[in-house]
Amino acid sequence: AVRMATQDLYLFFHGLPLPKIVHSEESLEDFRKFKVQNDDIFVISYPKSGTTWMQEIIPLLLNGGDLTPVESIPNWERVPWLEETRAVLFLDKLSAPRTMVSHMPYPLMPPTFSSSKAKAIYIARNPKDVLVSSFYFHQMASFLDDPGTFEEFMDKFLAGQVLFGKWTDHVKSWRNTDLGDRIFYITYEELIQDLRGALERMLRFLGRQMSEEALDRVTEHCLFKNMKKNNMSNYSLVPQEVMDSSKSHFLRKGIAGDWKNHFSPELEDKFNAVIQKELEGSGINFPWD
Ligand code: A3P
Repeated sequence: AVRMATQDLYLFFHGLPLPKIVHSEESLEDFRKFKVQNDDIFVISYPKSGTTWMQEIIPLLLNGGDLTPVESIPNWERVPWLEETRAVLFLDKLSAPRTMVSHMPYPLMPPTFSSSKAKAIYIARNPKDVLVSSFYFHQMASFLDDPGTFEEFMDKFLAGQVLFGKWTDHVKSWRNTDLGDRIFYITYEELIQDLRGALERMLRFLGRQMSEEALDRVTEHCLFKNMKKNNMSNYSLVPQEVMDSSKSHFLRKGIAGDWKNHFSPELEDKFNAVIQKELEGSGINFPWD
């Protein structure tokens, strides 16, 4: 399919390219004015870091492991993106505690977020795997620009000419907040390695409890192979012209380390040099190779 020109696909918010299909000047204004409540819960992520996974996990942790909502309500409606145009449709339907997602860097969050007691879970992923996931996402999503070759796309990623800007700016902004124990950090890789253990830690952060049996059920349900079958979470409700599943699936591979199948040694050196330089002095040490 022929893509629109890049300038027609994105609008810019504080210099960050955001896809016009789900963002507008108005939705971003509403976002900034949003009144955060003390019991609100936010999932925060840079795109392709495990957002959809958290949209599955959080409702289940909050409701004692009842699968009904995740099997009957689309992920974007059950844990809506606060900055998107559709937020107005869904936010009113949420019952407390409201659960929402945002891809925004910390300084752009609504002012009422930091002044509230709302909790945030920040999910981060190895940026090399984020890049690979995003590369395939750009191939299948007609509302994003054509990624070109993998190397060309890497250059755009490193320059921050991709949705929500630079990965390093995003993680740096969220790793250095004054939120104290209101924020919980988790990685995609921890979920891959020990999903049940990660769920238990998030339960504690959220101040919730669950029976062993329910926790087993939630863990099983949230495994990639099972979640991929959930039509409320696998984006199969989206028309083929918008997301072309013949090119790639939204729930594509679901592993840690797929970058090893895509990076040449030269590309790895280039990528490492830029990311390391930009993280220098930030105190951030991710456990990634
Ligand atoms: P891949 O493209 O590497 O497969 P986001 O939701 O932030 O856009 O991130 C999408 C990525 O998370 C995709 O990565 C997708 O497959 C992965 N993902 C979603 N649900 C998952 C699950 N239950 N287990 C493992 N990975 C999952």
